[in-house]
Amino acid sequence: MEILRTIKEVREFKRANRDAPLVLVPTMGALHEGHTSLMKIGKALKGKMIVSIYVNPLQFGPDEDLDNYPRQQKEDIEICRSDGAAAVFLPDDEVMYPGERFTAVRVGSLQDHLCGAGRPGHFDGVTTVVAKLFNIIEPTHAVFGLKDFQQYMIIKKMVEDLDFPIEIIGGEIIREAGGLAMSSRNKYLSPEERKRALNINLALTYIAEGSADGKLSADALISDAIAKYLSGIRIDYLDIYDSKNLKPVPRDLPLKGDLVAAGAFFVGSTRLIDNMRYTIR
Ligand code: PAF
Repeated sequence: MEILRTIKEVREFKRANRDAPLVLVPTMGALHEGHTSLMKIGKALKGKMIVSIYVNPLQFGPDEDLDNYPRQQKEDIEICRSDGAAAVFLPDDEVMYPGERFTAVRVGSLQDHLCGAGRPGHFDGVTTVVAKLFNIIEPTHAVFGLKDFQQYMIIKKMVEDLDFPIEIIGGEIIREAGGLAMSSRNKYLSPEERKRALNINLALTYIAEGSADGKLSADALISDAIAKYLSGIRIDYLDIYDSKNLKPVPRDLPLKGDLVAAGAFFVGSTRLIDNMRYTIR
C-alpha cells in the first residue's frame, strides 16, 4: 500500500494505475468498523481503492472539536492496509489550503435543516474539501457513510450540479451492540454516557415504527420519543424529514412517502448524529 502525502504523489499513483477504476473513501481518520464497511464496498468494486485521511478545518465551527478531534494516523494506516486500500492520501493543511482561499463550493437549500441549521458553514467546508479531493484524485467512484445522510445528499447534489463524472455510493450505518451508530466521536463517551447514548437509536426506532402505525402525527411521535427515551440527553434537533429534499414533513397526519427520522444529540459534551430512513406508502 502506498502512502501519498502530496498532490504530485497522487498524480504519479494515478499514472501508474491508469486503467483501473479508482474508488475514493474520504475520511477524517480515527477509523472504526463503520469505515471498514465503506472500504469493503470500495474493495468490492474491484478497482484500486484510495482512502483519504484529513481532518478538514474548514468544516469545524469556532467552538467545535477541531483541536481535540481524535487522531491516530499509525493505527489508521494499518486499518487501511488490512482493508485492502491500494493507497492512503494523507495531506496536511499546507497541501490542501496552501494560500489564501477565494473559492468555496456551496450546495444551497439541502443545508437549511438538520445539521446545516445549527452548524453554519459546516457543509460549505465539507463540499469544498470534497470537491478538492475529487479534483486531486479524480476517482470513478466515492463511498460515503449514510450516518451523515445530509452530507451524502449534499455531495450527491454537488456531483450532479457540477458534472463530476463520479458515482457516489452510500454505505449503511454500522451500529455497535445495543444500536449506537459507530462514530469517531464515540471515543469521547464515558461508559455511562455510552449506555445513555443507546437511547438515541431507541428514540429513532420508536419514531419510525410509530410513523408506520399511522395514528400519531410527527409532533406527537417526536414528543413521545423525547419523553420515553431522551430525558438524559440534550437535543440539538430531532425531526422527521422528506428524505428526497430534507425538508421537515407536515406536522399533521398522514405521514407518507420517503422519510428520514434524524437528530443530533449531546451526550455529555459529545455531539452524536443518527438517522433512520423509511418509506410509508
Ligand atoms: O464524513 C467525513 O468524514 C468528512 O465530512 C469528509 C467527507 C471526509 C470530508 O472532510
